Amino acid sequence: MLRSGLIFWVVLHLFILPADADNKTLSSRDETYLPHSAYVKCSFLPLDFLECDPPVDHKGNVSAREEAGHGCAKFGNYKYHDVEKAKVQCDVLPFIECHGPRNFLRDGFPCIKYNGHYFVTTLMYSILLGFLGMDRFCLGQTGTAVGKLLTLGGVGIWWIVDIILLVTNGLLPEDGSNWNAYA
Ligand SMILES: *[C@@H]1O[C@H](CO)[C@@H](O)[C@H](O)[C@H]1NC(C)=O
Ligand SMILES: *[C@@H]1O[C@H](CO)[C@@H](O)[C@H](O)[C@H]1NC(C)=O
Repeated sequence: MLRSGLIFWVVLHLFILPADADNKTLSSRDETYLPHSAYVKCSFLPLDFLECDPPVDHKGNVSAREEAGHGCAKFGNYKYHDVEKAKVQCDVLPFIECHGPRNFLRDGFPCIKYNGHYFVTTLMYSILLGFLGMDRFCLGQTGTAVGKLLTLGGVGIWWIVDIILLVTNGLLPEDGSNWNAYA
């Protein structure tokens, strides 16, 4: 009688109660958020604790961006106020404990990308080989590049106009990428 009571007590405390207690702390962490508890909201974590995707490129389709609720319609530009800011998908890094969903949208990422276009290199192409349209070929503006090649740089005029456009930021990579910084 005493022995079976002891076995029951051991089983109760070793196997049944601990699991139950575990369940209680887990569910209370999931349901009620206590601002002063050790668990900060996942969406409040700084970037060092997150892994964020690059912004989705909606390729100029503003309604597609509105529909998705994140990503960029337009990439490029150099001044802070001109650069579009995007929301991106972020995941909390594994083993970092926090409260709430571990996957969410974080705002304020710049819509900027780099595809290996260098300003000085392009300018040299424009000055030295502009009559063959090499500058526009390199920027991915293939249609106008062929036109420039066939007219030998618009008999010299287009050649010069494109050098001026480049210097004044009027001629940019076709894919909306920014100039790479010096390599
Ligand atoms: C925790 O609770 C869930 C349902 O609330 C239940 O399905 C699960 O079996 C419980 N786990 C333990 C270890 O008691
Ligand atoms: C823009 O995106 C919307 C929603 O995804 C789509 O229905 C529409 O066809 C797209 N427009 C263009 C011009 O691609």
